[in-house]
Amino acid sequence: KVLSQKDIPGLAKYIKSNDCKNIVLMIGAGVSTSAGIPDFRSPETGLYSNLARLNLPHPEAVFEIGFFRRNPVPFYTLAHELYPGKFRPTPTHSFIRLLSEKSLLHTCFTQNIDTLERRAGVPGDKIIEAHGSFATQRCIDCKRSFDDAKMKEHILAKKIARCERCNGYVKPDIVFFGEQLPDNFLSSISNMLEADLLIIMGTSLTVQPFASLADMVKDTCPRVLINIDRVGNLGSMPDDVVLLGKCDEIVRDLCKELGWEEDLDRLWSE
Ligand code: OAD
Repeated sequence: KVLSQKDIPGLAKYIKSNDCKNIVLMIGAGVSTSAGIPDFRSPETGLYSNLARLNLPHPEAVFEIGFFRRNPVPFYTLAHELYPGKFRPTPTHSFIRLLSEKSLLHTCFTQNIDTLERRAGVPGDKIIEAHGSFATQRCIDCKRSFDDAKMKEHILAKKIARCERCNGYVKPDIVFFGEQLPDNFLSSISNMLEADLLIIMGTSLTVQPFASLADMVKDTCPRVLINIDRVGNLGSMPDDVVLLGKCDEIVRDLCKELGWEEDLDRLWSE
């Protein structure tokens, strides 16, 4: 066993030790709910239970390429609501930046497309946007890229962008179900082997291949889950720590234990 205690004090002690130099994070929509962005699968508040108004055959269809090809309106409606720029990073995002400032952050794998990690000041070279982002876009037919400023205008006006060459629909480079994950995700999978600590926050760990990263760390790497509910197989390994609750609160308690609370507040109020 690597951890002396499977709780916040035990974790803080390990983070401060010389054995913990590289922290890898896996995060999902739950780290952004306190910013006002709904997650996908929470009952009642999650996007998938609130998509009925978009007349979808099933909620995930909004992120299916076949459905988008027939009817891009639901996705564009959602894109309008989720478009980055309207939301402020949460204390949990500032915690990720803090890990980077303490030279402990190895890689932050995110499933989120809200770009709040970047906005919180986490260095771009530490972030792997596994499900893509709104930063670039292209035609779904001929793959020609489409201008960023024009795309923004279209999304904000709830207008569907069409390719200037072939008139196909334009889609942000967000990974839809059935599409391959970005090259930088694939080339960074081996980073998992370099982790001395894995922290998983705000994700249901239900979407593959992302979820399977959690099983790729070395046997000696403790895994910590910070989430409202227990997910995946977290808790099944001797050094797994399961901290159930809201991530902003748990992260604050951990920072208190580490003596980093002022640092966290400074970064968050920037
Ligand atoms: P989910 O909505 O599936 O899961 C969010 C998890 O965060 C749930 O377990 C919640 O209980 C938890 N949660 C919510 N608020 C929280 C809070 N304040 N503190 C702690 N935990 C909280 O979201 P993801 O796992 O990110 O794919 O979903 C994965 C992928 O499914 C998304 O990237 C998206 C979706 O289809 C694409 O868009 C391609």
